[in-house]
Amino acid sequence: MKVFIAGCGTMGSGIAQTFAVKGHEVVMFDQTMALADRGYATIEKQIGRQKEKGRMTEEEASAVLARVSRSVDCRDAAGSSLVIEAIYENMAAKRELFAALDEICGPECLFGSNTSSLSITEMARGLTHEGQFLGLHFFNPAPLMRLVEIIRGGAATEEALSAAVELIRSIGKEPVICRESPGFIVNRILIPMINEAVDLLETGVASREAIDSAMKLGANHPMGPLELADFIGVDIVLAIMEVIFDETGDPKYRPSLMLKRMVRAGRLGRKTGEGFYDYNK
Ligand SMILES: NC(=O)c1ccc[n+]([C@@H]2O[C@H](COP(=O)([O-])OP(=O)(O)OC[C@H]3O[C@@H](n4cnc5c(N)ncnc54)[C@H](O)[C@@H]3O)[C@@H](O)[C@H]2O)c1
Repeated sequence: MKVFIAGCGTMGSGIAQTFAVKGHEVVMFDQTMALADRGYATIEKQIGRQKEKGRMTEEEASAVLARVSRSVDCRDAAGSSLVIEAIYENMAAKRELFAALDEICGPECLFGSNTSSLSITEMARGLTHEGQFLGLHFFNPAPLMRLVEIIRGGAATEEALSAAVELIRSIGKEPVICRESPGFIVNRILIPMINEAVDLLETGVASREAIDSAMKLGANHPMGPLELADFIGVDIVLAIMEVIFDETGDPKYRPSLMLKRMVRAGRLGRKTGEGFYDYNK
Protein backbone atom coordinates (compact mmCIF):
# COMPACT_ATOMS: atom_id res chain seq x y z
CA MET A 1 0.00 0.00 0.00
CA LYS A 2 1.18 3.54 -0.66
CA VAL A 3 0.68 5.87 2.31
CA PHE A 4 1.08 9.64 2.11
CA ILE A 5 1.92 11.33 5.42
CA ALA A 6 1.57 15.11 5.51
CA GLY A 7 3.64 16.79 8.23
CA CYS A 8 6.92 15.21 9.37
CA GLY A 9 7.05 16.45 12.96
CA THR A 10 6.67 14.45 16.16
CA MET A 11 3.55 12.59 15.07
CA GLY A 12 4.07 12.43 11.29
CA SER A 13 7.49 10.82 11.59
CA GLY A 14 6.25 8.30 14.16
CA ILE A 15 3.25 7.37 12.01
CA ALA A 16 5.45 7.12 8.90
CA GLN A 17 7.82 4.79 10.76
CA THR A 18 4.93 2.59 11.89
CA PHE A 19 3.66 2.07 8.33
CA ALA A 20 7.14 1.59 6.84
CA VAL A 21 7.99 -1.08 9.43
CA LYS A 22 4.81 -2.93 8.43
CA GLY A 23 5.95 -3.04 4.82
CA HIS A 24 4.11 -0.08 3.27
CA GLU A 25 5.55 2.48 0.88
CA VAL A 26 5.53 5.82 2.68
CA VAL A 27 5.83 9.34 1.31
CA MET A 28 6.73 11.93 3.96
CA PHE A 29 5.55 15.36 2.88
CA ASP A 30 6.39 18.67 4.56
CA GLN A 31 6.71 22.36 3.74
CA THR A 32 10.44 22.24 3.01
CA MET A 33 12.89 19.47 2.21
CA ALA A 34 14.83 20.36 5.37
CA LEU A 35 11.71 19.60 7.46
CA ALA A 36 11.03 16.35 5.58
CA ASP A 37 14.70 15.41 6.07
CA ARG A 38 14.42 16.11 9.79
CA GLY A 39 11.45 13.74 10.02
CA TYR A 40 13.31 11.10 8.05
CA ALA A 41 16.36 11.49 10.31
CA THR A 42 14.13 10.76 13.33
CA ILE A 43 13.06 7.48 11.73
CA GLU A 44 16.65 6.64 10.83
CA LYS A 45 17.67 7.16 14.45
CA GLN A 46 14.83 5.03 15.81
CA ILE A 47 15.46 2.22 13.35
CA GLY A 48 19.18 2.40 14.20
CA ARG A 49 18.30 1.83 17.85
CA GLN A 50 16.14 -1.18 16.95
CA LYS A 51 19.11 -2.58 15.07
CA GLU A 52 21.50 -2.00 17.99
CA LYS A 53 19.12 -3.76 20.33
CA GLY A 54 19.01 -6.73 17.98
CA ARG A 55 15.31 -6.28 17.23
CA MET A 56 15.98 -5.75 13.54
CA THR A 57 18.64 -7.11 11.19
CA GLU A 58 20.77 -4.85 9.01
CA GLU A 59 18.74 -5.95 5.96
CA GLU A 60 15.38 -5.30 7.64
CA ALA A 61 16.50 -1.86 8.77
CA SER A 62 17.70 -0.92 5.28
CA ALA A 63 14.47 -2.23 3.75
CA VAL A 64 12.35 -0.10 6.13
CA LEU A 65 14.31 3.04 5.28
CA ALA A 66 14.22 2.28 1.56
CA ARG A 67 10.41 2.29 1.70
CA VAL A 68 10.34 5.90 2.94
CA SER A 69 10.62 8.77 0.48
CA ARG A 70 10.47 12.53 1.07
CA SER A 71 8.52 15.17 -0.78
CA VAL A 72 7.53 18.83 -0.84
CA ASP A 73 5.05 18.33 -3.67
CA CYS A 74 1.60 17.11 -2.66
CA ARG A 75 1.07 15.71 -6.17
CA ASP A 76 3.23 12.83 -4.91
CA ALA A 77 0.07 11.68 -3.09
CA ALA A 78 -1.23 10.35 -6.43
CA GLY A 79 -1.86 6.61 -6.26
CA SER A 80 -1.99 6.50 -2.45
CA SER A 81 -4.46 4.22 -0.67
CA LEU A 82 -4.24 6.26 2.50
CA VAL A 83 -3.42 9.85 3.41
CA ILE A 84 -2.72 10.81 7.00
CA GLU A 85 -2.41 14.46 7.86
CA ALA A 86 -0.29 15.45 10.89
CA ILE A 87 0.44 19.13 10.18
CA TYR A 88 -0.06 22.04 12.59
CA GLU A 89 -3.27 22.09 14.60
CA ASN A 90 -4.90 24.74 12.40
CA MET A 91 -8.25 24.28 10.63
CA ALA A 92 -7.54 26.63 7.69
CA ALA A 93 -4.17 24.96 6.96
CA LYS A 94 -5.68 21.48 7.19
CA ARG A 95 -8.62 22.36 4.95
CA GLU A 96 -6.32 23.89 2.36
CA LEU A 97 -4.14 20.79 2.29
CA PHE A 98 -7.10 18.40 2.03
CA ALA A 99 -8.64 20.47 -0.77
CA ALA A 100 -5.44 19.97 -2.78
CA LEU A 101 -5.22 16.25 -1.93
CA ASP A 102 -8.89 15.80 -2.85
CA GLU A 103 -8.04 16.56 -6.48
CA ILE A 104 -4.89 14.45 -6.55
CA CYS A 105 -6.02 11.24 -4.85
CA GLY A 106 -8.22 8.58 -6.42
CA PRO A 107 -11.77 7.96 -5.15
CA GLU A 108 -10.75 4.87 -3.13
CA CYS A 109 -8.15 6.73 -1.08
CA LEU A 110 -8.95 6.94 2.62
CA PHE A 111 -8.34 10.35 4.23
CA GLY A 112 -7.32 10.57 7.89
CA SER A 113 -6.48 13.48 10.14
CA ASN A 114 -4.44 13.08 13.31
CA THR A 115 -5.98 16.21 14.85
CA SER A 116 -6.25 16.24 18.64
CA SER A 117 -9.09 18.69 18.87
CA LEU A 118 -10.48 20.03 15.59
CA SER A 119 -13.77 18.99 14.01
CA ILE A 120 -13.47 16.14 11.49
CA THR A 121 -16.84 17.07 10.00
CA GLU A 122 -15.70 20.63 9.33
CA MET A 123 -12.39 19.44 7.90
CA ALA A 124 -14.10 17.04 5.49
CA ARG A 125 -17.00 19.28 4.46
CA GLY A 126 -17.33 19.74 0.71
CA LEU A 127 -14.58 17.29 -0.30
CA THR A 128 -15.33 14.54 -2.82
CA HIS A 129 -13.63 12.27 -0.25
CA GLU A 130 -16.03 13.39 2.51
CA GLY A 131 -17.39 9.86 2.94
CA GLN A 132 -13.85 8.50 3.14
CA PHE A 133 -12.74 10.99 5.78
CA LEU A 134 -12.04 9.97 9.38
CA GLY A 135 -10.09 11.14 12.38
CA LEU A 136 -7.18 8.75 12.97
CA HIS A 137 -5.80 9.83 16.31
CA PHE A 138 -2.43 8.23 17.07
CA PHE A 139 -0.69 8.69 20.40
CA ASN A 140 2.85 9.83 21.08
CA PRO A 141 5.23 8.03 20.53
CA ALA A 142 3.27 6.58 17.61
CA PRO A 143 5.50 3.53 16.98
CA LEU A 144 5.03 2.38 20.59
CA MET A 145 1.52 3.40 21.60
CA ARG A 146 -1.01 0.75 20.69
CA LEU A 147 -4.18 2.81 20.63
CA VAL A 148 -5.63 4.65 17.65
CA GLU A 149 -8.92 6.47 18.16
CA ILE A 150 -10.98 6.43 14.99
CA ILE A 151 -13.25 9.45 14.92
CA ARG A 152 -16.31 9.30 12.85
CA GLY A 153 -17.09 12.64 11.24
CA GLY A 154 -20.53 13.57 10.04
CA ALA A 155 -20.31 12.03 6.58
CA ALA A 156 -18.05 8.97 6.94
CA THR A 157 -19.50 5.80 5.43
CA GLU A 158 -19.70 2.37 7.09
CA GLU A 159 -17.32 1.06 4.42
CA ALA A 160 -14.72 3.71 5.22
CA LEU A 161 -15.04 2.95 8.92
CA SER A 162 -14.58 -0.82 8.41
CA ALA A 163 -11.63 -0.20 6.10
CA ALA A 164 -10.00 2.02 8.73
CA VAL A 165 -10.53 -0.52 11.52
CA GLU A 166 -8.96 -3.26 9.41
CA LEU A 167 -6.08 -1.04 8.42
CA ILE A 168 -5.28 0.03 11.97
CA ARG A 169 -5.33 -3.61 13.12
CA SER A 170 -3.07 -4.57 10.21
CA ILE A 171 -0.32 -2.29 11.53
CA GLY A 172 -0.54 -3.91 14.97
CA LYS A 173 -2.59 -1.19 16.66
CA GLU A 174 -5.86 -1.38 18.52
CA PRO A 175 -8.62 0.86 17.14
CA VAL A 176 -11.45 2.30 19.20
CA ILE A 177 -14.29 4.10 17.46
CA CYS A 178 -15.90 7.22 18.78
CA ARG A 179 -18.20 9.98 17.59
CA GLU A 180 -16.85 13.45 17.08
CA SER A 181 -16.69 15.08 20.49
CA PRO A 182 -14.13 17.39 22.15
CA GLY A 183 -11.12 15.42 23.41
CA PHE A 184 -12.52 12.17 21.95
CA ILE A 185 -12.14 9.47 24.64
CA VAL A 186 -8.63 9.56 26.07
CA ASN A 187 -8.13 13.31 26.32
CA ARG A 188 -11.68 13.87 27.56
CA ILE A 189 -10.87 11.72 30.58
CA LEU A 190 -7.14 12.31 30.99
CA ILE A 191 -6.87 16.10 30.62
CA PRO A 192 -9.66 17.02 33.07
CA MET A 193 -8.02 14.59 35.53
CA ILE A 194 -4.73 16.48 35.20
CA ASN A 195 -6.63 19.78 35.54
CA GLU A 196 -8.18 18.50 38.77
CA ALA A 197 -4.74 17.53 40.09
CA VAL A 198 -3.49 21.06 39.34
CA ASP A 199 -6.49 22.51 41.22
CA LEU A 200 -5.66 20.30 44.22
CA LEU A 201 -2.09 21.58 44.14
CA GLU A 202 -3.17 25.20 43.77
CA THR A 203 -5.66 25.07 46.64
CA GLY A 204 -3.01 23.53 48.92
CA VAL A 205 -4.80 20.23 49.46
CA ALA A 206 -1.56 18.30 48.92
CA SER A 207 1.99 18.67 47.63
CA ARG A 208 2.92 17.77 44.04
CA GLU A 209 4.74 14.67 45.32
CA ALA A 210 1.73 13.58 47.37
CA ILE A 211 -0.65 14.02 44.41
CA ASP A 212 1.59 12.07 42.04
CA SER A 213 2.30 9.30 44.58
CA ALA A 214 -1.38 8.98 45.37
CA MET A 215 -2.34 8.33 41.76
CA LYS A 216 0.61 6.02 41.14
CA LEU A 217 0.11 3.91 44.25
CA GLY A 218 -3.64 4.22 44.69
CA ALA A 219 -4.85 4.06 41.09
CA ASN A 220 -1.90 2.18 39.60
CA HIS A 221 -1.12 4.92 37.10
CA PRO A 222 2.44 4.58 35.76
CA MET A 223 2.98 8.35 36.09
CA GLY A 224 1.40 10.88 38.42
CA PRO A 225 -0.86 13.51 36.80
CA LEU A 226 1.59 16.38 37.37
CA GLU A 227 4.54 14.40 36.02
CA LEU A 228 2.35 13.52 33.06
CA ALA A 229 1.48 17.19 32.47
CA ASP A 230 5.20 17.99 32.33
CA PHE A 231 5.69 15.13 29.89
CA ILE A 232 2.82 16.14 27.57
CA GLY A 233 3.61 19.87 27.82
CA VAL A 234 1.69 22.22 30.13
CA ASP A 235 0.71 24.37 27.11
CA ILE A 236 -0.78 21.35 25.32
CA VAL A 237 -2.72 20.36 28.45
CA LEU A 238 -4.12 23.90 28.70
CA ALA A 239 -4.96 24.07 24.98
CA ILE A 240 -6.92 20.78 25.10
CA MET A 241 -8.69 21.82 28.31
CA GLU A 242 -9.71 25.11 26.65
CA VAL A 243 -11.13 23.28 23.64
CA ILE A 244 -13.20 20.97 25.86
CA PHE A 245 -14.40 23.94 27.93
CA ASP A 246 -15.22 26.15 24.92
CA GLU A 247 -16.98 23.38 23.00
CA THR A 248 -19.12 22.12 25.88
CA GLY A 249 -19.55 25.40 27.77
CA ASP A 250 -19.68 23.21 30.87
CA PRO A 251 -18.08 24.85 33.97
CA LYS A 252 -16.80 21.48 35.15
CA TYR A 253 -14.13 21.80 32.44
CA ARG A 254 -12.92 25.26 33.53
CA PRO A 255 -9.13 25.32 32.95
CA SER A 256 -7.12 25.72 36.13
CA LEU A 257 -5.76 29.24 36.66
CA MET A 258 -2.45 27.76 37.71
CA LEU A 259 -2.10 26.10 34.28
CA LYS A 260 -2.62 29.50 32.64
CA ARG A 261 -0.05 31.16 34.88
CA MET A 262 2.50 28.46 34.16
CA VAL A 263 2.03 28.78 30.40
CA ARG A 264 2.42 32.58 30.60
CA ALA A 265 5.62 32.09 32.60
CA GLY A 266 6.98 29.63 30.03
CA ARG A 267 6.98 26.74 32.52
CA LEU A 268 5.84 24.20 29.95
CA GLY A 269 7.30 21.03 31.47
CA ARG A 270 10.17 18.86 30.28
CA LYS A 271 10.57 20.70 26.99
CA THR A 272 11.47 23.98 28.73
CA GLY A 273 13.32 22.35 31.64
CA GLU A 274 10.72 23.36 34.20
CA GLY A 275 7.06 22.70 34.83
CA PHE A 276 5.61 21.21 37.98
CA TYR A 277 9.09 19.79 38.53
CA ASP A 278 12.54 21.21 37.79
CA TYR A 279 14.46 19.22 35.14
CA ASN A 280 17.49 21.51 35.06
CA LYS A 281 19.11 19.84 38.05
N1 LIG B 1 2.35 15.79 19.72
C1 LIG B 1 1.42 14.99 20.21
O1 LIG B 1 1.57 14.40 21.29
C2 LIG B 1 0.15 14.74 19.41
C3 LIG B 1 -0.62 13.60 19.73
C4 LIG B 1 -1.75 13.32 18.95
C5 LIG B 1 -2.12 14.19 17.94
N2 LIG B 1 -1.36 15.30 17.65
C6 LIG B 1 -1.78 16.14 16.52
O2 LIG B 1 -0.95 15.80 15.41
C7 LIG B 1 -0.73 16.94 14.58
C8 LIG B 1 0.75 17.20 14.45
O3 LIG B 1 1.30 17.41 15.72
P1 LIG B 1 2.87 17.32 15.99
O4 LIG B 1 3.05 17.35 17.47
O5 LIG B 1 3.47 16.21 15.20
O6 LIG B 1 3.36 18.72 15.37
P2 LIG B 1 4.82 19.19 14.95
O7 LIG B 1 4.85 20.65 15.13
O8 LIG B 1 5.87 18.34 15.62
O9 LIG B 1 4.89 18.84 13.37
C9 LIG B 1 4.07 19.44 12.42
C10 LIG B 1 4.76 19.34 11.08
O10 LIG B 1 3.82 19.73 10.07
C11 LIG B 1 4.48 20.53 9.11
N3 LIG B 1 3.50 21.35 8.42
C12 LIG B 1 2.81 22.42 8.87
N4 LIG B 1 1.97 22.90 7.93
C13 LIG B 1 2.15 22.11 6.83
C14 LIG B 1 1.57 22.08 5.54
N5 LIG B 1 0.65 22.96 5.18
N6 LIG B 1 1.98 21.12 4.69
C15 LIG B 1 2.91 20.22 5.04
N7 LIG B 1 3.49 20.18 6.25
C16 LIG B 1 3.12 21.12 7.14
C17 LIG B 1 5.47 21.33 9.93
O11 LIG B 1 6.50 21.86 9.12
C18 LIG B 1 5.97 20.28 10.95
O12 LIG B 1 7.08 19.55 10.44
C19 LIG B 1 -1.55 18.07 15.20
O13 LIG B 1 -2.80 18.11 14.61
C20 LIG B 1 -1.65 17.62 16.68
O14 LIG B 1 -2.79 18.17 17.29
C21 LIG B 1 -0.23 15.58 18.37
